[in-house]
Amino acid sequence: MYGSGYAEIYDLIHSWWRGKDYDTEAAEVTEMIRARMPEASSLLDVACGTGIHLARFAESFDHIEGLDLSEAMLSVARRRMPAAELRQGDMRSLDLPRRFDAITCMFTAIAHQTEVELDETLRRFARHLNPGGVVVVDPWWFPETFIEGYVSAEVMTPDHRSIARVSHATREGDWSRMEVHYLVVDEKTGIRHFTEPYRHRLITRGQYEQALRDAGFTTEYLEGFHSGRGLFLGVLTTVSPEQETT
Ligand SMILES: C[S@@+](CC[C@H](N)C(=O)[O-])C[C@H]1O[C@@H](n2cnc3c(N)ncnc32)[C@H](O)[C@@H]1O
Repeated sequence: MYGSGYAEIYDLIHSWWRGKDYDTEAAEVTEMIRARMPEASSLLDVACGTGIHLARFAESFDHIEGLDLSEAMLSVARRRMPAAELRQGDMRSLDLPRRFDAITCMFTAIAHQTEVELDETLRRFARHLNPGGVVVVDPWWFPETFIEGYVSAEVMTPDHRSIARVSHATREGDWSRMEVHYLVVDEKTGIRHFTEPYRHRLITRGQYEQALRDAGFTTEYLEGFHSGRGLFLGVLTTVSPEQETT
């Protein structure tokens, strides 16, 4: 998942071709955070990918950091924001030396894990937030909204390259499996083919809400946020004993 071939064309696919409006998303998420914590000045974007949201957050927060599992995605983010603190790491074992006023986890990254791992991840998010801090979680489809057998096919010609993308989604028990094939062709390197297989856990709305509550957050679910999958927001109200001692 999220290898170098994909990282190089990620922004073109989502932002340029598929019209994902990162600017508006980042502006709205910033507004949501400030409505719940007006003084919020630091933000950690977990699973920051190529750093598109993060670059926008940097315009509104004094201190921003990013973390992602994929070195390939991070290398694009580093090119975008050479001075930013960007770390390779796994959200399931998040352990950083400071806390933040807000933590975001955008574009379904939260769902590449089981419910047990989700519980642990959200507890770790809580331990990295200041009291009253805000968490924003952009989920994957719920079991009842995921469309089994969903197919998409696109051809795009952004620059000197042509890119073909086809995808097919299936359901394997409580997981969705999406296989995406890419063909990238340009004059110099010819044709490259690679596959990106994704597994997302089909977590229910209730499970997300329970996991947030168990980690010490209030929970709100905003239906229909850009992707149609909605957005979870939590404010840290309960300070765990671990947090008191750190
Ligand atoms: C769909 S991309 C979203 C990237 C970015 N947030 C955005 O909105 O464009 C999912 C990202 O989650 C990262 N990721 C997946 N599992 C992770 C984990 N356990 N810890 C940290 N990052 C993870 C991937 O490497 C990838 O960059």
